[in-house]
Amino acid sequence: MKKYSVAAIPGDGIGNEVVPEGQKVMEAAARLGGFSFDWTHYDWSCERFAKTGAMMPEDGLDQIRNKDAIYLGAVGFPGVPDHVSLWGLLIPIRRGFHQYVNLRPVKLLKGIESPLKGREAGSIDFYVVRENNEGEYSSIGGRLYDGSPDELVMQQSIFTRRGCDRVMRYAFELAKTRKKHVTSATKSNGISHTMPYWDERFAAISTEYPGFKTDQFHIDILTAHFVRNPDWFDVVVASNLFGDILSDLGPAVVGSIGIAAGANINPEKDYPSMFEPVHGSAPDIAGKGLADPIGQIWSGAMMLRHLGEEAAARAVEDAIADVLARGEALTPDLGGKANTRELADAITAALPAHF
Ligand code: NAI
Ligand code: MG
Repeated sequence: MKKYSVAAIPGDGIGNEVVPEGQKVMEAAARLGGFSFDWTHYDWSCERFAKTGAMMPEDGLDQIRNKDAIYLGAVGFPGVPDHVSLWGLLIPIRRGFHQYVNLRPVKLLKGIESPLKGREAGSIDFYVVRENNEGEYSSIGGRLYDGSPDELVMQQSIFTRRGCDRVMRYAFELAKTRKKHVTSATKSNGISHTMPYWDERFAAISTEYPGFKTDQFHIDILTAHFVRNPDWFDVVVASNLFGDILSDLGPAVVGSIGIAAGANINPEKDYPSMFEPVHGSAPDIAGKGLADPIGQIWSGAMMLRHLGEEAAARAVEDAIADVLARGEALTPDLGGKANTRELADAITAALPAHF
């Protein structure tokens, strides 16, 4: 029987409520799918920071380097500045483990009310593929002549051929399993070096995938299309900054922050990939059992897919869709009265029917 060794990092706030529920659903999926999990729990968090002065131990990355995956809740809590918690835990994992793809599904499910008028379940179904390691988010830059009228500040963007090509290939490979349509986010009219280069690489990689539909939009009009024509898209590939914006806008147009899922992927599997919901630690509702566990559970489905357990991944996704469509056992953010555990239990109960 296959056994997957997974690092569970609940982190802060509602991470401590939704991760254990997500693990229960993963356990149920494993029993039905004929595989198993070996979980190791890590208390890396702002609470740990308050006690020890560090979000994780110095050899933290080495402790989890050989895991098959990382299942993370949320990181950040009042009392620790957000850039400290982010750069002390999430960013070192994303960069240290070359998780150069940030992947987010955007899917309108039955039972979820989209803020967009007149959209039917199933009419919006695409992925945002964000470059997660380079681009506009580099730490190369500096400031000169501080506090004087000559004050000057600059920050470099970094686009490498390897970095562009690999994330674009990932987008095409994903589209191969779907509608074979890839859209590129650009801004080559205003940003005159890096973005024309991005377009050039997109055109070059496109030639490796004959028969695929490709298009590209400047990021400004693309955000408008996400709202006005979300049915146009299948897989959207974007640089780090543009992808950051699109991967929040996408889930926002299909409903609650509580159900949005995400993954940080090292496609070559040289390092573990990390699966985490889009939402944060929600200090306003933490500790009350009000948190929606679906984002965490759906991220778990993405983990199952990455591990090669496609049937189990689909079953979890279908069980989520099933429970939402029936409208039972929903948490308050979805208009219901159930608590975190009750919603997760309902998804577990729906699993067998979808295997
Ligand atoms: P947040 O996502 O934690 O909360 C935003 C709003 O959505 C809150 O009203 C919250 O109650 C609600 N919400 C979030 N998740 C929910 C769920 N599962 N069920 C029901 N309602 C939910 O974002 P916020 O408040 O900006 O950040 C709080 C902390 O989380 C900060 O320290 C921030 O840095 C951190 N954060 C961490 C992220 C991560 O670990 N990747 C992502 C976003 C924020
Ligand atoms: Mg973001």
